[in-house]
Amino acid sequence: MKKYLILLAVMLMGAAVLFTGCSSDDDERRTLVMGTSADFPPFEFVADDGQGVIGRYAGIDVSLVARIAEELDMDIVIQDQPFIGLIMALTNRDIDFIASGMTIRPDRAEQVNFTIPYFDARQTIIVNIDNDTIHSVADFEGLRVGVQFGTTAELSLNDDMIITGYDLISYNQPTAGIIDLLNGSIDVFVVDSPVARGFLANHPDQLRIFTDEEFFGPEQFGMAFHLEDTELLGMFNEVLERLIAEGFVDYLYTHYTTMLALE
Ligand code: ARG
Repeated sequence: MKKYLILLAVMLMGAAVLFTGCSSDDDERRTLVMGTSADFPPFEFVADDGQGVIGRYAGIDVSLVARIAEELDMDIVIQDQPFIGLIMALTNRDIDFIASGMTIRPDRAEQVNFTIPYFDARQTIIVNIDNDTIHSVADFEGLRVGVQFGTTAELSLNDDMIITGYDLISYNQPTAGIIDLLNGSIDVFVVDSPVARGFLANHPDQLRIFTDEEFFGPEQFGMAFHLEDTELLGMFNEVLERLIAEGFVDYLYTHYTTMLALE
């Protein structure tokens, strides 16, 4: 009798496994939470008319992720938050991955796994057009220099601030720094090249941009995943690699810079 009961129990368990196995195809289409700081056109921004590509959000990262998710049969929701908190949100699993124009760096790679790089950039210096005394980071001495909190601009200038002698002012959003630059509260703002080109396009008669290639090295953007999610990382990498080879990222860059009239 006992034998039969055990057999029955085993059969029931098997049926339960089969049952959940079947339903998972329809019900468990995975939804991933993408963390981003949507203050960084052309990579991520809130669409003017509220009609974005994912929710109210648009940009190169947003469209790229939408395409990858489509190919992986997944859904994406966006969590918009200050850039500085993104890595902690990922390690806490408040979000499933980061797509936020994030530069691949060895120190960050200790906390997250990066995808293959999908975009090349460099830090760019923005000053008011009538300022002709600043041509490199060495000229920052005695000045007020703005950056976005937690970005590579802040990280690289932090190490140099004491040496060259300037004040670093960190903003949650790059736009806030540009407003302060235009009204004279700060002297310089440093941000990634594609974003700086956008500010210049919006204020061609007020701003001047240039870079200091000796001080700021080349940077590459990657999406970031939780250290344990290597399978998901692999799935993203596979699609990303093909999309880059097909020229989809180049297409998105042209599409968004034209749409935003940035170039
Ligand atoms: N590439 C820079 C970094 O990784 C800045 C990224 C800022 N991204 C943003 N969405 N605001 O630190």
